[in-house]
Amino acid sequence: MKPSVYLLSVVFAATVSAQALAATPPPEPKPDLAKGQATATAMCVACHTADGSRGSPANPILQGQHPEYTAKQLAEFKSGKRENAIMRGMSATLSESDMLNVSAFYASKVAKPGFAKNKDLVALGEKIYRGGIADRSVPACSGCHSPNGAGIPSQYPRMAGQHADYTEAQMLAFRSGLRKNSAQMTGIAAKMNDREIKAVSDYIAGLR
Ligand code: HEC
Ligand code: HEC
Repeated sequence: MKPSVYLLSVVFAATVSAQALAATPPPEPKPDLAKGQATATAMCVACHTADGSRGSPANPILQGQHPEYTAKQLAEFKSGKRENAIMRGMSATLSESDMLNVSAFYASKVAKPGFAKNKDLVALGEKIYRGGIADRSVPACSGCHSPNGAGIPSQYPRMAGQHADYTEAQMLAFRSGLRKNSAQMTGIAAKMNDREIKAVSDYIAGLR
């Protein structure tokens, strides 16, 4: 390389890396698990238990959930994008960092396994979860929520072991348009009947 060309490329490289440095955003603040636990203990324990584990079937299990998904739901409850009167109230006073902290707290807990209960429907549920419903182009749930229901961070939520009642209620809410914070899920639920929704929800409760 001729010295002048060499010098030019050094100057160029230095300029580019200086620009890259200037464009780098400041590091994300690390979530504070102790603060997250304090919020959970003060505000969420009555419905979601102390650590987000199995409580009443109407209230979702939160432990082990990807924190990005949980934080997205809290922000959308607060803004009204996901409608629920109880959770709108609960999220109203949470700041963005409260949401990140409490989401990280639940994510730090390991979800316990659940069980499918409906013997008559579990085979249908498994078929839908793993293969979808071909003649109505319902995609396999496993494609996005993963074969064992652990989801795929950070977009696709974990569902393994979730209360069947809660999962069924969400599918019905996507289908009726009550829950409209995911175009993908609205499209999928629209093509499923009540029996199929019940079956796949029960199967998901037993996934591990
Ligand atoms: C009075 C009971 C109650 C309290 C207290 C409560 N929740 Fe909830 N939570 C619910 C119910 C019911 C739902 C289901 C809402 C729906 O059907 O959309 C829910 C849903 C959620 C979801 C959505 C989960 C998912 O899988 O999509 C998150 C996240 C959540 N709550 C977090 C919290 C946090 C964090 C707190 C405390 C700051 C809290 N909740 C306090 C009852 C409660
Ligand atoms: C193309 C990807 C994709 C496929 C396939 C898919 N999902 Fe989802 N699902 C999503 C996304 C993305 C979300 C998160 C929506 C949000 O951010 O609120 C979600 C959320 C859900 C939720 C809400 C979870 C909660 O905790 O509230 C349920 C229930 C659900 N999916 C059930 C299913 C079922 C049952 C199937 C199969 C019939 C399925 N999904 C197939 C992408 C998918």
